[in-house]
Amino acid sequence: MTFCVSSTTHLAQYLKPSNFNTSLNIIMKRKISVIDSVIENLINIKKTKTIGIKANIYNCDFRDILKKIEINKTTLIYADPPYFKEHYSRYYHVLDTFLFYDYPELTYNPRLKTTTTGRYRNNRIVSDFGKKSLVKKAFFDLVQTVKLYGNKLAISYANTSILDIDYFDELKTEFKIPMKIYDFELMHSGQGQPRNKIVKEYLIIYG
Ligand SMILES: C[S@@+](CC[C@H](N)C(=O)[O-])C[C@H]1O[C@@H](n2cnc3c(N)ncnc32)[C@H](O)[C@@H]1O
Repeated sequence: MTFCVSSTTHLAQYLKPSNFNTSLNIIMKRKISVIDSVIENLINIKKTKTIGIKANIYNCDFRDILKKIEINKTTLIYADPPYFKEHYSRYYHVLDTFLFYDYPELTYNPRLKTTTTGRYRNNRIVSDFGKKSLVKKAFFDLVQTVKLYGNKLAISYANTSILDIDYFDELKTEFKIPMKIYDFELMHSGQGQPRNKIVKEYLIIYG
C-alpha cells in the first residue's frame, strides 16, 4: 500500500498536483497497478522461508485473545502496541479500507462544512492503546495476566509514546510482580516530516 498510494508516507495526506514535479509524481504513482503489486507481494511472501512452527493468527482485541489461548508459567506474551494515536489514523486506515473494500464515507468537518484535510475513513478503528483515556486500562489488563497466570510479559514502548514510562512502575507496585526496564536509543522516522527523531526505546519485562 505504501508503494501504491498517492500520498505522503503517512497515508492520509494525499498529494496535490501543485507543481510540475508533484504532478509527475502523482502520475507515476497512479500508473502502479494495485492488483499486480498485491500479486507480486503475495508471491514474495510465499517464497519466504518459514521455521516450521504452526502459528495461530487472531484478528480481534488482545483481551479476547487472552481468553482464547492457554496461558501458564511457560508462556511469554510479547506486545508491541501502537505508541501514538496516529498509528490508527494516519497509517492503517488505507490498509483497513483495502481489506474491507467498502468505499467508506470520508471524515467530515462540520464547522468547515467540508471533508477533513487528512483523508480518513469515517469511524476508523482506533486502538485503546492510542487513546489517552483508555491506554492505562489497556496496559492494566495486559499486565494483570502476569498476576493471574504467572506468565512472562515483554512490552515494547518509547519515551515519546502517549503514556509515561512511570505508569509501568505503578503497575509493578500494584500487582506486586517483578519488572525490569531495558532502554536503548533508536532513530524514529519522521513519517513525512523532514526530520527524524532520536528516541529512547524501552523493553519492559514483567514476571
Ligand atoms: C506497532 S504494530 C506491531 C508491529 C509488529 N510487531 C511488527 O513488527 O510487524 C501494533 C500492532 O498492534 C495491534 N493492536 C493494536 N491495538 C490492539 C488491540 N487492542 N488488540 C490487539 N491488537 C492490537 C495492531 O493491529 C498492530 O498490528
